[in-house]
Amino acid sequence: MTLLQLLSSRFEAALAAAGAPDAQALVQPAGKPEFGDYQVNGVMAAAKRLKMNPRELAQKVVDSVDVAGVIDKMEIAGPGFINLHLSTAWLGAHVERAHADAKLGVPQQAPKKVMVEYSSPNVAKEMHVGHLRSTIIGDALARVQAFLGHDVQRANHVGDWGTQFGMLTAYLLEVRSTEHTDAAIALNDLEAFYRKAKQHFDEDPAFATRAREYVVKLQSGDPEVLALWRQFVDISLSHCEAVYRKLNVQLGRGDVRGESAYNDDLPVVVADLRQQGLLTEDQGAQVVFLDEFKNKEGEPLACIIQKSDGGYLYATTDLSAVRYRHTQLGLDRVMYVVDARQALHFQQIFTIARKAGYAPADMQLEHIAFGTMMGEDNKPFKTRSGGTVKLIELLEEAEERAYQLVTDKNPALADAARRDIASAVGIGAVKYADLSKHRTSDYVFSWDSMLAFEGNTAPYLQYAYTRIRSIFGKGAMFDPQAAVVLTEPAERALALQLAQFGDSVYTVARDAVPHLLCLYLYQLATQFMRFYEACPVLKSEGAVQQSRLKLCDLTAKTLAAGLDMLGIKVLEAM
Ligand code: ARG
Repeated sequence: MTLLQLLSSRFEAALAAAGAPDAQALVQPAGKPEFGDYQVNGVMAAAKRLKMNPRELAQKVVDSVDVAGVIDKMEIAGPGFINLHLSTAWLGAHVERAHADAKLGVPQQAPKKVMVEYSSPNVAKEMHVGHLRSTIIGDALARVQAFLGHDVQRANHVGDWGTQFGMLTAYLLEVRSTEHTDAAIALNDLEAFYRKAKQHFDEDPAFATRAREYVVKLQSGDPEVLALWRQFVDISLSHCEAVYRKLNVQLGRGDVRGESAYNDDLPVVVADLRQQGLLTEDQGAQVVFLDEFKNKEGEPLACIIQKSDGGYLYATTDLSAVRYRHTQLGLDRVMYVVDARQALHFQQIFTIARKAGYAPADMQLEHIAFGTMMGEDNKPFKTRSGGTVKLIELLEEAEERAYQLVTDKNPALADAARRDIASAVGIGAVKYADLSKHRTSDYVFSWDSMLAFEGNTAPYLQYAYTRIRSIFGKGAMFDPQAAVVLTEPAERALALQLAQFGDSVYTVARDAVPHLLCLYLYQLATQFMRFYEACPVLKSEGAVQQSRLKLCDLTAKTLAAGLDMLGIKVLEAM
């Protein structure tokens, strides 16, 4: 159990014994030091239901609750709050336990099959900043789930199908035969390739006709056109992989299952929906009417499953994918990390999937929505000339800027070392800036604030980690068996912060909110700095020094584990 779970369960047992069996204890960290460490907020509501005086109920709870060894002191405050003061000895013992534990005191959860679907670019084009957010957030969420012991599957649901591939494959063939360039070179700049193909399509009627024929050939499985398409997708995916590598993101070829993988199943889905009586014909198209959603006129919203010309849609593929994820993969939870602008799409898909039985009630389907990345002008992030920003170039710029910073700070360091630090710091800064904002809000991309060594940034945390590690290089012999004895207030505050790691990770995993993990790590680093100023480590001696070294070591390990869950590297020196 985490600390909060432990406290909640003990107080709920006491509430039950006092006559309120279903009451929630609502234990929360106390907002102010005078309220103790935690506060029980649920007594008032329970008393109201029992028609009891809340302070009397609180007294009953305090008298009977079993928290021996965990809590030293309780006070009833105001209308019936209970302020809790944790036992300092318990906190010290927690630090010892966490230090000896590979998961740093974070209890493992009962393993579930969790899929995190993220990145999912459209391969006809270059990855853009919208996919950057999905990639960074999704990867962090997958790592958090894995840390808690879940069986995590990563899914890259790339957009690799659609009529534009007729034009693109026809153009690829043409470029190969007229310019004798190989495909990898022709597709080096996907954006330019797409533009040229489109221009050709608009200007040359013969080519446009061929492109349309290619769509038909592709859909009917013509081997030659399929081979071209495969080559196109392959090269495009290798561009994505270069971005993933640079970003230190754990997505590989094996995680790709594109929209095309569901092609053969689409007619099956349509037939099944029809058989279940869920389909209606509307102006020639096959639609599902959803009473749960109303259009502007107040009528039920129609979700199109098949167009009047027989073509399938984005929604059809997603329904097939949900069904696959249930029947073939047996997943318990699927997290779709996709731009907030697709919220309605996912609400519709989830609703239809439930109705059609493609996702049973106990399979969690969640749209993990995120806002738009803005430029410093508060408009959606673009290049100076208004074009889409190439991700790989953005990341190279991050490394370059970090390299300048590192060089200014540490000119004597060997160039290769400075490059390594620059990569960890630059990429870390980009990721952390994104992850530290509440994901549903838009956020402003600013080089200066993300690369600052002060404040809630990656460089600040990486630097804090390095500083702690450097303590260990300075001669003090650390005994990992040492006992932790907390005497100074700053030691106790740091131990309390360390004991809250589990609850922080649990909340982040449950609500898919990485910004709370960032906040936790920032507070941990801040508490550490306070401790380090107030409590000498290297100048102390004996048992006190050993106890403090253990606090230092657990802080460093916790920072490293937390940053690793965010996909950010730490450095032994910087
Ligand atoms: N390829 C889509 C896009 O770029 C995102 C896919 C999201 N996932 C899904 N299952 N629909 O907008």
